[in-house]
Amino acid sequence: MSVEKLLSVLADGELHSGEEFGELLGVSRAAVWKQLKKLDDLGVSLESIKGRGYRLPGGLDLLSAKRIYASLPEAALPLLTELELMMQVDSTNSRAMARAADSVPSGYVCAAEQQTAGRGRRGRPWQSPFAANLYFSINWRFTGGAAVLEGLSLAVGVAVVEALACAGVTGLELKWPNDILCHGKKLAGILLEMTGDAAGPCQVVVGIGVNINMPESAAGQIDQPWADLRSLGAGLPCRSDLLATMLGGVLPLLGDFERKGFSTYREAFERLDAFSNRPVFLHLGGEVVVGTVIGVDDRGSILLDTATGKRSFNGGEVSLRSAE
Ligand code: BTN
Repeated sequence: MSVEKLLSVLADGELHSGEEFGELLGVSRAAVWKQLKKLDDLGVSLESIKGRGYRLPGGLDLLSAKRIYASLPEAALPLLTELELMMQVDSTNSRAMARAADSVPSGYVCAAEQQTAGRGRRGRPWQSPFAANLYFSINWRFTGGAAVLEGLSLAVGVAVVEALACAGVTGLELKWPNDILCHGKKLAGILLEMTGDAAGPCQVVVGIGVNINMPESAAGQIDQPWADLRSLGAGLPCRSDLLATMLGGVLPLLGDFERKGFSTYREAFERLDAFSNRPVFLHLGGEVVVGTVIGVDDRGSILLDTATGKRSFNGGEVSLRSAE
């Protein structure tokens, strides 16, 4: 808690004295110093100016529950049943899965300033430096089993692109099944995980990461072309506002999905598909299929026109490479 208090003061980027922190926390200067050292563990680089105090150059845009609720689109308000904001967590998806095991209701959202073991698809790590990007997960219960979830991850991709467009980030595309691309580089990713009965009641965790202002130190560890909102040249959005806008798109989608299914989102997906009508290699386990993307079907499978005719492929370890 004290670290959170310190950060909320330092967030303004101004100079603050050790004395001020001592008063705020009601502890000695030595105890303040100990708390300030903890910021190192979060990867926050504090500037210390001898005899004057401490400051965070550039300040920090910390997530605020108050601001998220204030910016939340009205339709999403009754759907957001719990908002848990964490300074640091291994993975918001792991946290949400643990809460699923405790039977948390649909609409539980966990967002973190930092993930120490953020997870991407296909076992990849997801770089999650402190207060730089958005990392959050949403729990939702479905009663109809895995069959009703077909295409959900693609539909979430559509909702994320549309929400980002509402926040002024336009021109984004999707790469099947659910990568969000900006000029061919990955701006955001979605990781769906399921627990429960594949044939009956189950809980789905929808994890979303959006690159906003990736620091160099973390960028060096990303093994694929990536983008962040800063690189788009537009001003940086308030992260709480952006999270609220994204929840405004994704929560209503989750609320309606079991009834509507993917077919309602199919056309939107195809419109946003970066590989539409393009030749691709599709890596499926050890097999490589060559074909042209002709769309997706109502189950969210990708449709390829191949030398042996029209074929559909679904999920798993499938990846796309442009063959142009
Ligand atoms: C991908 O590889 O495209 C999926 C990336 C998903 C990252 C998000 S960040 C929030 C949530 N928690 C995780 O550990 N992963 C997802």
